[in-house]
Amino acid sequence: MRIALVTCANLPEPDPDRELLMEALRNAKLQVEWLAWDDPNTDPGGFDLCVLRSCWNYYENPRVFLDWIETTARVSRLLNPPQVVRWNLHKGYLRELDARGVPIIPTAWVSKGTQSPLEKIVEENGWTDVVIKPAVSAGSFQTRRFSADQLRVGQTFLDELSRERDVMIQQYMTSIENEGERALIWIAGRWTHAIRKSPRFSGGDEQVSEASEVSAKEQTFAERVLTDIKAELLYARLDVIRAADGRLCLSELELIEPSLFFLQHPPALKHFVRAVAQPRCG
Ligand SMILES: Nc1ncnc2c1ncn2[C@@H]1O[C@H](COP(=O)(O)OP(=O)(O)O)[C@@H](O)[C@H]1O
Ligand SMILES: [Mg+2]
Repeated sequence: MRIALVTCANLPEPDPDRELLMEALRNAKLQVEWLAWDDPNTDPGGFDLCVLRSCWNYYENPRVFLDWIETTARVSRLLNPPQVVRWNLHKGYLRELDARGVPIIPTAWVSKGTQSPLEKIVEENGWTDVVIKPAVSAGSFQTRRFSADQLRVGQTFLDELSRERDVMIQQYMTSIENEGERALIWIAGRWTHAIRKSPRFSGGDEQVSEASEVSAKEQTFAERVLTDIKAELLYARLDVIRAADGRLCLSELELIEPSLFFLQHPPALKHFVRAVAQPRCG
């Protein structure tokens, strides 16, 4: 079986999973190569399976990326599957989950080409600090926090951003300062581990903790999120933040290219490799 691990031609930041994954797959006697989705000289059709990994620049050209996803899924087996990628690319999926009763971070949605009054939104929702970020994004791209006395600068940032793309305005979750954000990792049928990530805004670096177990409470929360996804998944990562009242809130459901923090938990890597080596996983 020939396997492609999908990356991009110029990684915006180093991928800690990269060498570990390649080595583990090769040790399992699998034929595996990196394939940059944005390199026109590659042929996904030459692979039996294409596994999305560090295609981290997709948000710069989401339409081109989705075209590549569709083409690839026609000539190879793609994981996660194309319909999952299509759904997960725009964070509007959070709105859908919200409508189904999943607690998400309180969010106001701003469509591309429209203007929204930031101060009014903040006031109506009873927020103080906010985070403004694109609805199609990764790696904290154009993600900024504004405090209550910075809303004029925030308005300018929002107007600039919404000229080009759909935007989210969120309540700033203060718990992130002490507790960070928990990334809950699911691989081929089970919760493998969780890690804690420090806050990270545009231009910043991410600090991550050691691995811990996904708690029973987190599993119950997370399963409610995954239950409606009927497609075959190889991996999923839920990023959750605690609200002021102690409840868990979904920050992101990452089904395209999440880091899986193999370094922090080698058994998860083993499980991933086993799943990839099987004819069907998930
Ligand atoms: N509402 C929020 N409250 C507190 N921190 C936030 C909020 N939204 C984003 N952040 C910080 O910004 C980072 C990037 O935002 P995120 O929504 O995870 O987008 P992406 O990972 O796609 O860039 C988060 O990991 C978190 O540290
Ligand atoms: Mg994130």
